Parts: sequence; structure tokens; C-alpha cells
Amino acid sequence: MAEDRESAGFPKSDFIARYDGNRWRKFELNSGGTLILTARGQEIMAFNPQLRKHVLAYRSEAQNNKQKDFRKWFKAGGNSDVYKFGDRPMVMKEASTAYSVWNALDRMDYLYGICRKFLPNYIRVPDHYGILYSPDLKKQYLLMQKVNEGLTVADLLNDTNGNINEGLKKLAIMEFQGLEDKVRNVIDSAPGRDQMPRELLPDWSAGNVIVDFTTPTKEMPFTFWIIDQ
Ligand SMILES: Nc1ncnc2c1ncn2[C@@H]1O[C@H](COP(=O)(O)OP(=O)(O)O)[C@@H](O)[C@H]1O
Ligand SMILES: [Mg+2]
Repeated sequence: MAEDRESAGFPKSDFIARYDGNRWRKFELNSGGTLILTARGQEIMAFNPQLRKHVLAYRSEAQNNKQKDFRKWFKAGGNSDVYKFGDRPMVMKEASTAYSVWNALDRMDYLYGICRKFLPNYIRVPDHYGILYSPDLKKQYLLMQKVNEGLTVADLLNDTNGNINEGLKKLAIMEFQGLEDKVRNVIDSAPGRDQMPRELLPDWSAGNVIVDFTTPTKEMPFTFWIIDQ
């Protein structure tokens, strides 16, 4: 029997139609649990069997709290821990079940589209690749693009970073002051706003905006990445 090339390694899936014409895929895993892959997640996994293998193995690695293979602790936030995923430019957020990774993925997908369409290039949302959840798991998992070393505006404010130029630091802190209004304005006037979740920025804070000085843009000598909404 011909194997579906795209889903090789994953069991049969359902499609989830998204507002922008993309199709997510939902897999019920043999090992238990549900895996949802966004369009971007499907793309990066399509030709990477090693990545698919690690995604499927992540659950047991995490459940046994192992950190020997591809799961490496990276950062702690208010409610979750974030792990590196091998040497890949991605991170796995491990959140408590009090938080819904499905709702987070949904909001971040709208935010991603809105920022890309209506805001300058220095205001972005990382690519989100997928989520894994199951009623019998103590955590839920969200896989996304890794943004540099995860330096946030809060880190700049707390001065928990040694070697960033003072002028750059000041500029980023100043720009952050007006950032929330800029983002909220484009959300409010986005086409199809009434189909979207009522609050797209439920957890706006300096700790949830990454400042990436390694990605300067035309407008700013850095990029802001909105996370954790
Ligand atoms: N996509 C990412 N790229 C790089 N670092 C990240 C990313 N997402 C989170 N982090 C790092 O992990 C920390 C905690 O993540 P966050 O999603 O804010 O968790 P929490 O819900 O616990 O607040 C962040 O402050 C940031 O340093
Ligand atoms: Mg946070």
C-alpha cells in the first residue's frame, strides 16, 4: 500500500481548516495523545524523518524527565519550562494543564498573521509548529521557532544581560512602551476580527516580548518577537 508521503511516521490524520486557507493536521497518536501540526510544522517535518522521530519520542522523554538525548532545559517562565530540541532552531514549551496549548496556538496563529500583514518587520511572532496534549499527561507541549537566546524586554529592564550596548538597550525599552498600542490597534481593525478569540493578548508583559539584536531590520536595530499569548 502506498504510504502518504506527508504523514510518514504519523498515523492517519484529520484536517483543521484555518482562517488564512492553511490546513493544520490533527493526529491521534498510537502512544496516546493528540498531535496538531500547523502548516509550517508540516512543512518542516515533511522531509525530516529524524525530526518526526524526535517529536514522537518527546512524550516519553519528557514523562521520564530525561535530558540525555534531544531534550535540554533552556529557560523557565512564570508557568512553564522551555526546552531546547536538540540543536535545532526550535524550542519546546512544557506548560501545565491549567493552560490550554490549543487556545494558545489558535491565538498565536491569528497574531502571527496580523503582525505580518499590518505591522513593520521588526514586530513579529515566532513560527509555531505544533502542540501535543493528552488527558493522561501532566504537561502539554508546544513546539515553536527558537528566537536567539530568549532575551526579553524584562531582562533588559532587570539588567540581567551583561554586554548589550546601552544606547540599543534604551531604544528597545523606549520602543517597547508604544508596542502594545501598536499591536492592539491592528488587532482591533483586522478583517474578520469577530471570528477571532476575544482577547489576543491575554498576557502582555515585558517578559513576553523577546528582543533579538541579532536580527536588525530596516526600521530598528532589532526585532521584537511576541511570545506566550
Ligand atoms: N520561541 C522562543 N524562542 C526563544 N526563547 C523563548 C521562546 N519562547 C520562550 N522563550 C524563553 O522562555 C521563557 C519562558 O517562556 P514563556 O513562553 O514566556 O513561558 P511562561 O508561560 O512560563 O511565562 C521566555 O521568557 C524566553 O526567555
Ligand atoms: Mg511568559
